[in-house]
Amino acid sequence: PLIIILNGPNLNMLGTRQPETYGRETLADIEHQCRAHAEGLGLTVEFRQSNHEGELVTWIQQARGRAAGLILNAGAYTHTSVALLDALLAAEVTTIEVHLSNIHQRDSFRHHSYVAQAAKGMIAGLGSHGYLLALDALARLIKGTPE
Ligand code: DQA
Repeated sequence: PLIIILNGPNLNMLGTRQPETYGRETLADIEHQCRAHAEGLGLTVEFRQSNHEGELVTWIQQARGRAAGLILNAGAYTHTSVALLDALLAAEVTTIEVHLSNIHQRDSFRHHSYVAQAAKGMIAGLGSHGYLLALDALARLIKGTPE
């Protein structure tokens, strides 16, 4: 089964971006961990990042009928984007929302997530391990699903 992992704006800056909040791993490091972990679960991973809201919308649309699951760290668009929410509702793919930081411990404008309404669950505050936990969750959720 195919799992699509989408990363939103500024996540390409991981490693140097506010390391006290986001850690020192790069997005490439996280991608490697996800690929290794997915292999052990019998899952195939497509891993992408974009700084453009519309590109993320298109990728979510394209997941429909193709991906067995979606892991989404929408970055700041989490807190602003009705368009990403609508894309998720249209795609009808089981989605786990991930955040490296604990968004509820931070600025109040980070407490609300538009994408949460379309997500099966959310993992926040556990750093890159959150992506691996999301893979575990999806592996369980899609068990028995063809593809
Ligand atoms: C983030 C949290 C968001 O509030 C922030 O805008 C990000 C990263 C996280 O992974 O902790 O860009 O999604």
